[in-house]
Amino acid sequence: MSVKILAIESSCDDTGASVLVDGKILSNCIANQTVHEQYGGVVPELASRAHQENIVPVVDLALKKAGVSKEELSAIAFTQAPGLMGSLLVGSSFAKSLAMALDIPLIAVHHMQAHVLANFIAESKPSFPFLCLTVSGGHTQIVRCDSPLQMKVIGETLDDAAGEAFDKSAKLLGLPYPGGPLIDKYAAQGDPKRFKFPEPQIPGLNFSFSGLKTSILYFIQSQEPQFIQDNLADICASIQQRIISILMNKLVKASKETGIKEIGIAGGVSANSGLRKALEEQGAKYGWNTYIPKFEYCTDNAAMIAITAWYKYQAGEFAGLDVIPGARAAF
Ligand code: KG4
Ligand code: ZN
Repeated sequence: MSVKILAIESSCDDTGASVLVDGKILSNCIANQTVHEQYGGVVPELASRAHQENIVPVVDLALKKAGVSKEELSAIAFTQAPGLMGSLLVGSSFAKSLAMALDIPLIAVHHMQAHVLANFIAESKPSFPFLCLTVSGGHTQIVRCDSPLQMKVIGETLDDAAGEAFDKSAKLLGLPYPGGPLIDKYAAQGDPKRFKFPEPQIPGLNFSFSGLKTSILYFIQSQEPQFIQDNLADICASIQQRIISILMNKLVKASKETGIKEIGIAGGVSANSGLRKALEEQGAKYGWNTYIPKFEYCTDNAAMIAITAWYKYQAGEFAGLDVIPGARAAF
């Protein structure tokens, strides 16, 4: 009998639902929350309320698109952690209730593990060991994977995440939230060598973005608003280029230290066109096999929760109804 999993993602500001059948994603639906734009960042209480409004229609749509009925489901998966507490509560409560009503197993998924496993949705999957640079709004990690469920963080940010570096820079430039995709857009027309921002000297495989943020702040404060307007593309390209070089230098170092040449990227920032290009270039230079999830599997989505749940289902890793959202820091 085939295994049909419904997965729910509600860690931050997007409500996602996906249906997977025997390892294949049949639907991946998302309701984006626009309510936060006017505040320049995600407002947690508004996020949980929007999840509550969105969750039933999004799940309904995911089931319809996949042509699967609730009664056929084998398991319900949800994002357990990390994330905004209220947002996680909506997804986990919904998943628990549905699993109980249908009398089927519940699968608790770690959001960061799921970002990494987004690389395993495509037909051509990485082999092990595999190194993944996970870059999102809240995390920047280099993860060593020895199997789908055996992962270890070998480097991470000591302060801001790469996504935050993009978003905070964008905010300083007067761009709306989330600024990452906008910096990407303007950077495409700009000269990345025009302005020089510093690269922090952090030992090992860890990252830091706070010094870069400060230097961008001082740079912007020292310029006339008209200059910023007129040179926006070059400024965005220079900021983006520096964030990418910080990320790629550590990834190259991690590959050299571990000897691993199966290399992927994941998380919202892996949607960045400059980072995607840089990975391909470094891959060609160092003889890596590179992996980049499709755009819709980079930013938060439920398909990555579904693929992780598929591996957990096969390993018999189920959760009890007493599982606590937000309670697990590590994967
Ligand atoms: O993984 P994600 O969707 O949510 C978290 O788990 O945090 O990542 C969101 C982050 C935001 O900081 C957003 O600005 C960034 O990913 N992002 C991008 C791009 N698309 C999304 N950053 C740079 N370039 C992009 N194209
Ligand atoms: Zn995420």
